[in-house]
Amino acid sequence: MPAVLEFEAITKEYRSPFRRRTLRALDGFTLRVEAGEIFGFLGPNGAGKTTAIHLAMGFMRASSGFGRMLNRPFGDPTARRRVGFLAENVALYHRPATRLVRFYGGLNGMGGRYLRARTREVLERVHLGAQAGRNVGKFSRGMLQRVGLAQALVNDPDLLILDEPTSALDPESRVSVRELLLDFRAHGKTVFLSSHLLSEVELVCDRVAVLHRGRIARMGRTTELLESRDESQVVARNIAPADFPGAQAQNGSVTFSVLASAQRATLERIWALGGEVLSVNPRRRSLEEVFLEVTSDKSQAPS
Ligand SMILES: Nc1ncnc2c1ncn2[C@@H]1O[C@H](COP(=O)(O)OP(=O)(O)OP(=O)(O)O)[C@@H](O)[C@H]1O
Ligand SMILES: [Mg+2]
Repeated sequence: MPAVLEFEAITKEYRSPFRRRTLRALDGFTLRVEAGEIFGFLGPNGAGKTTAIHLAMGFMRASSGFGRMLNRPFGDPTARRRVGFLAENVALYHRPATRLVRFYGGLNGMGGRYLRARTREVLERVHLGAQAGRNVGKFSRGMLQRVGLAQALVNDPDLLILDEPTSALDPESRVSVRELLLDFRAHGKTVFLSSHLLSEVELVCDRVAVLHRGRIARMGRTTELLESRDESQVVARNIAPADFPGAQAQNGSVTFSVLASAQRATLERIWALGGEVLSVNPRRRSLEEVFLEVTSDKSQAPS
């Protein structure tokens, strides 16, 4: 099956007209997003995420390399109509929410009764039904982000591209956006999500890529990235936490991490002390740990 979004060895350089300098925002960037997945696109400030998204949307052209969105070259207007896009800085015209969402539907070739019904539906979906008549110029940041999401959904897209969609949302709205994305995926659709909210990403994304200085520094299935290959978590009982460094007692059992190389010896020690091993599992790391590891410059140095 062809990829839904494909970046092939893309380099993007920004030229400064005054200083004769170029800034390489993307550097041989290659990535494939498959149909039906929620893909998390991470990276520190300035890594090149928005640049990559703007190239895919056809707002500007790559310096070199090639990309496809929904099997069409970047910038193709027919592919664009099947995409919902929420920009990083939601800048919307000052109009009532309903008119604004309808306007974006119109840009995607929609109209008539269907567009009116669909507009109502998406505004309800982001819990702005009661505010639909209000001018978005008076909206709070979180409400703006929600109306931005509504305009991204109005054309019932096959691919949603979201650049920081939940940064201003309160916890309740975040949960509801999470549900919305999962529901979207359940319909076989694809989400490409750039976010700094790693706990959110961890919860919804099937795969993630970490961009660092215009290149992919790490990519994989979320569950696999979060499993530490060299550390396990041991849960045991009938042992004293003080006998094992870093161990914590909880509900009658004792939990601690152990390096793979020391695992066997540790288990034998538990048994020798008359304890019982309840479980040994790869230690789950947080996405934040993975992120910091691959984006810190220490990751380049030999350890
Ligand atoms: N229009 C532009 N002209 C010149 N340089 C730019 C332009 N847009 C982005 N850049 C530069 O390109 C690099 C990548 O920026 P980009 O906005 O893609 O990063 P990002 O990963 O989206 O960061 P953030 O997490 O802060 O949103 C940065 O060094 C930025 O200064
Ligand atoms: Mg950005």
